[in-house]
Amino acid sequence: MSLTESLEGAASGAVSHPTSDPSTDPSTSPAGASPGGGDEWWRHAVTYQVYVRSFADRSGDGVGDLPGITDHLPYLHELGVDALWLTPFYTSPQKDHGYDVADYTDVDRLFGTLADADALITRAHELGLKVIVDLVPNHTSSAHPWFQAALAAAPGSRERERYLFRDGSGPDGGEPPNNWPSVFGGPAWTRVTEADGRPTSDGAATPEQQHLPSTGAATPTRSPQFYLHLFDSSQPDLNWRNPEVAAMFESVLRFWLDRGVDGFRVDVAHGLIKDADLRDQILPAEPEDPLEPHAMVERTAADEPMWDQPEVHEIYRSWHRILAEYPGDRMLVAEAWTQTPESLARYVRPDEMQQAFNFAWLLADWSAAEFADVIRGTLSALAEVGAPPTWVLSNHDVVRHPTRYGGGPVGLARAKAATLAMLALPGSAYLYQGEELGLEQVDVAEEHRQDPAWLRTRTSEAPEPGRDGCRVPLPWAGTTPPYDFSPEGVSPWLPQPETWAPLTAAAQSQAPGSTLQFYRAALAARREHALGAGNEVTLLDARTDVLTFRRGSLTVVLNAGSAAVELPTGTMLIASGELDDGLLPPDTAVWLAG
Ligand code: GLC
Repeated sequence: MSLTESLEGAASGAVSHPTSDPSTDPSTSPAGASPGGGDEWWRHAVTYQVYVRSFADRSGDGVGDLPGITDHLPYLHELGVDALWLTPFYTSPQKDHGYDVADYTDVDRLFGTLADADALITRAHELGLKVIVDLVPNHTSSAHPWFQAALAAAPGSRERERYLFRDGSGPDGGEPPNNWPSVFGGPAWTRVTEADGRPTSDGAATPEQQHLPSTGAATPTRSPQFYLHLFDSSQPDLNWRNPEVAAMFESVLRFWLDRGVDGFRVDVAHGLIKDADLRDQILPAEPEDPLEPHAMVERTAADEPMWDQPEVHEIYRSWHRILAEYPGDRMLVAEAWTQTPESLARYVRPDEMQQAFNFAWLLADWSAAEFADVIRGTLSALAEVGAPPTWVLSNHDVVRHPTRYGGGPVGLARAKAATLAMLALPGSAYLYQGEELGLEQVDVAEEHRQDPAWLRTRTSEAPEPGRDGCRVPLPWAGTTPPYDFSPEGVSPWLPQPETWAPLTAAAQSQAPGSTLQFYRAALAARREHALGAGNEVTLLDARTDVLTFRRGSLTVVLNAGSAAVELPTGTMLIASGELDDGLLPPDTAVWLAG
């Protein structure tokens, strides 16, 4: 079927997906025609996510580190990205691999030193790469001095007011204060042992928590309290209604801005403020897909008093003002798992953050209709606020997209096609390390798994496989593990598959048709045609199985159906796979000029 025929079919109502009408479809309107719309780098940047412990290990301890990243910055430069985002490398017990911070202004010795961070930032800037660092404001580590002081202090003390300590419920106060679940499984509350030595009694505390220090003054007439942790029990939630917390994070922002970082990725940005009364939530249904841990809490409940509370936006307004004091175009990008494009757009109003991850794109199935809906919904919501869209297919929390799309050669073909479509969309795109090598999710053996989501649920009825499978250290060169991730003879912190020899960066670098060469070519073409700039997308095709859109004089076609389709006329700029006698085969995308 030709494109013309398909459009005729759509017009006669022969398809289930409505035809885009350029006159009324918001996706054709100048979505980014923003009041503040300028030429800031982040408006159109491609950012590469570095999962620090799995990128490159220079020290030889089996864990990636900052010097390892600095060594490989030329690789990222050659790949053609504009920026890198580093996952947390701060002092941390590593219970959640750095998302449990004990000191926000130092580097964990596992990853290097502050001097190593400075060297990385300097070298990246020399190569023209921007550096975004992770900020984890929703919770600290239980090893943070503030939390240790809170445990040692009495209920009601100033120390406890920095976190969310509450008395238990039930006749003897032995039940958690409300029904909130942890995103990682189990209750979101852990009972502490008070200073007078009264034991925990409800079984909610993990063994490690039972041994938390308990020194200092206590009020003997009270029951032991509970503290809130929306994630692991080693990640106590901060009380963002306490001005002391806000002041601490302002100084953390300034510390890293002074060192030259270009932006912050804000972890759990939708979680900082909780309902003032900590009301019960309406319990969500069971997750449909156990491979999507975030889906459990964020997508199913109608009433979630722990997420997306209106007062959270005041925090980002204050941070916006701080960033504006600094030279250059500094930016904030929100990790906010909200329910709708409209609620997400509230995080990127002109006086708040610059970007928010668009997880709707990542959550869409392999479906042209779903992709079109996400494009339309995203641009329409952002048109209200003037922020650039973002697009992302993989990160360190989700199953890698070749595996999500079915795995094997089909999964990889679809992943490349989706990536090619993504890179033609306006705004900013995020890549996750290893996707340029076509890596799939690894089935990590249970004895090697380290994700707290797995550790917290493994003995339950619905164990969570966890996220280790997308975090396996990168293969750089060689034919056997550790593939130059670590020095020869060192075992990386997660075992790498024996089958990765053809996937190493070295093996793919000069191999025609490799995934790495495809990414380099796509990124170069995106840059050459300035596809990140501008703000107009015209959705052309209305079939459920073919996505077609125009960006200026460029036409993008993605075939998500099961039969080859004809292409409109135009000069082929790049394809995600081989054409079939001039036709676009299933699981393939192209960019056409003219
Ligand atoms: C974010 C991070 C995730 C982490 C969680 C708790 O969702 O991306 O890796 O486990 O926050 O900090």
